[in-house]
Amino acid sequence: MFVQPHGIELLHWWSEVGWILKTIRDYRVSLFVEIGVFHGALARIIMDQCVDNIDFNYVGIEHDRDHVDQKAIDYSRGLHEFNDGEAEFMFCDALSPAAVSEVRSRILSTGVPAMVYCDGGDKITEARLYWPHLRPGDIMGIHDFGRYGHPGIEVFPDDVRFVIDGGERIEIPELDARILMVVKR
Ligand SMILES: C[S@@+](CC[C@H](N)C(=O)[O-])C[C@H]1O[C@@H](n2cnc3c(N)ncnc32)[C@H](O)[C@@H]1O
Repeated sequence: MFVQPHGIELLHWWSEVGWILKTIRDYRVSLFVEIGVFHGALARIIMDQCVDNIDFNYVGIEHDRDHVDQKAIDYSRGLHEFNDGEAEFMFCDALSPAAVSEVRSRILSTGVPAMVYCDGGDKITEARLYWPHLRPGDIMGIHDFGRYGHPGIEVFPDDVRFVIDGGERIEIPELDARILMVVKR
């Protein structure tokens, strides 16, 4: 059964959330883009980073606004009233050229690393679309990547600097993680 931090159902294991937070902190991620927000439980947790760090920004992309719990939306708006990092939702198709272009410009206007986290309806396509817009040192995460084998391992042709797995660098063929996190070369 899934837990409900902040009263919102979470579609991640706690260990996965911990790993994401650790990555954000260890690598000093400046912008976290979540593709696929659903109820917004992960979003709500990640948005707390805006309070700790005014240079941290969160963007959540979700094409079905009705999925997103109002508590997560209200929290993102509340952050704007203080001197915090910015958090906002884009209610649109993450696979559309407009969304990719908007995310690209946000990446370009922030420090390295930005992190794009693929957790929408077609994670491999999301990864393929957004990967070319990451800069060296930027990070991509793909949820459930190792769950069904390693589909689309060719997503990152020669462009992977290393794979993050619990802080270790491991070779892609040995990968069996539920979240694939890679740093761009
Ligand atoms: C697995 S859920 C996301 C879970 C969320 N990241 C969490 O941790 O709670 C996938 C979400 O992606 C959304 N989605 C699917 N395809 C999308 C697309 N092309 N653009 C934007 N959102 C999409 C779905 O509506 C759904 O809410």
